[in-house]
Parts: sequence; C-alpha cells; structure tokens
Amino acid sequence: MTANSPARTVANVNDDSSCLTRRHFMLVGGIGAVTVLLGDLFGNRAFAEEGKRVGRFAAYPKKRIIAMSKLTADQPADFLYPDDGPHSTCRLYRLGTPASGGVGPGQDVVGFNTLCTHMGGTLAGSYDRVNRVAGPCPIHLTTFDLTRHGMVVAGHATQCLPQVILELDGEDVYAIGILGLIYGYPGNLTFLRGR
Ligand code: FES
Repeated sequence: MTANSPARTVANVNDDSSCLTRRHFMLVGGIGAVTVLLGDLFGNRAFAEEGKRVGRFAAYPKKRIIAMSKLTADQPADFLYPDDGPHSTCRLYRLGTPASGGVGPGQDVVGFNTLCTHMGGTLAGSYDRVNRVAGPCPIHLTTFDLTRHGMVVAGHATQCLPQVILELDGEDVYAIGILGLIYGYPGNLTFLRGR
C-alpha cells in the first residue's frame, strides 16, 4: 500500500492525533494573532515554529506562488502545494482584512488547501468574499473562516481547513509549509519530506 492510498486515508482522517485539535488551534491561533498584530517583527517563521512545536506543522520545500502585485481581492490564485498530487490543490486569497497567518502589507494574504476536511468536497469555487469564508462545501455545506486559520463556521466538518504557511520574499509570495492535515493523506506527507 502506498503512503497516499485512499484506504489509509479514510482511516486516518478521523484520527485526532493527525488533526488540529481545539487546544492546538487555540495555541497556534494565539501565535497567529500575535503575528497579525506585530507583523513582520515575528513573521510567519515564528508562527510555523510554534505549529511545528505542537506537532501540527509540516515544512516543505519553499515554492513561489505569485507576485504580490498580481493578486487581487476579486480573483484568488490557484496553485498546487506541497506536491503536484490531486489532494494538493490550494488557493491564495487577498482578504482585505488582517488574518491569522496573513502576509503582505495588510497581513491579509492567506493560503489554504481546497479540499473540505469532512469528506473531501472541493471548495475551489466557493469563496465568499464578503464574509471571507470558503464554502459552503457542495457536499454537506461546511463553511470555513479564512481569517482564523480555516476554522469551521458551520457544517459537518470538525477540523480546520489546512493552511498554507506563507512567506513574503521581495515582491513574491512563497509557500513554506502546511498547518494541519490535507484531506486524502494519512499524515503530513512524510514521504515527501523524506526525499
Ligand atoms: S464533504 Fe464538505 S461538509 Fe461533508
């Protein structure tokens, strides 16, 4: 059985040990709030370090996503991360308000995986710009708050949407890791990190 086989996936999605628990969410969320308030003084590196410390952050190779100047509030940017697999579909949003884990001058640029953490429904086409949420999921209507680490607002899912940890390097936005477990994987892609 391969590391990303569907059979292992289903068994592990409901495993609390591989998901962002409420306690860890509060802990990491607190760091995110500090990051928003203090901006680049701490930056997302500190945020990622805290996520790593509580076992919920996986660092992956740094990948350029887009130039900041190309990202608009109206049009999220789609990208694949951390690999090119079918579960690695992600979106970059410019929310127009400071967000936990946000980068950029307004601390408002955030990235998330687009697969619902309940049963993998796609959220790629369901961005609500007014309320800054992803959803409702087309399968069971879960909605995720993009300003608060992808926290569940309503619906069947119990886990936050996996957040892509970002870094601003010059004019460009880069992905450097993932906070939380991507739907469809049994763990945080150790096969990729082990390469
Ligand atoms: S798959 Fe999204 S709420 Fe069930």
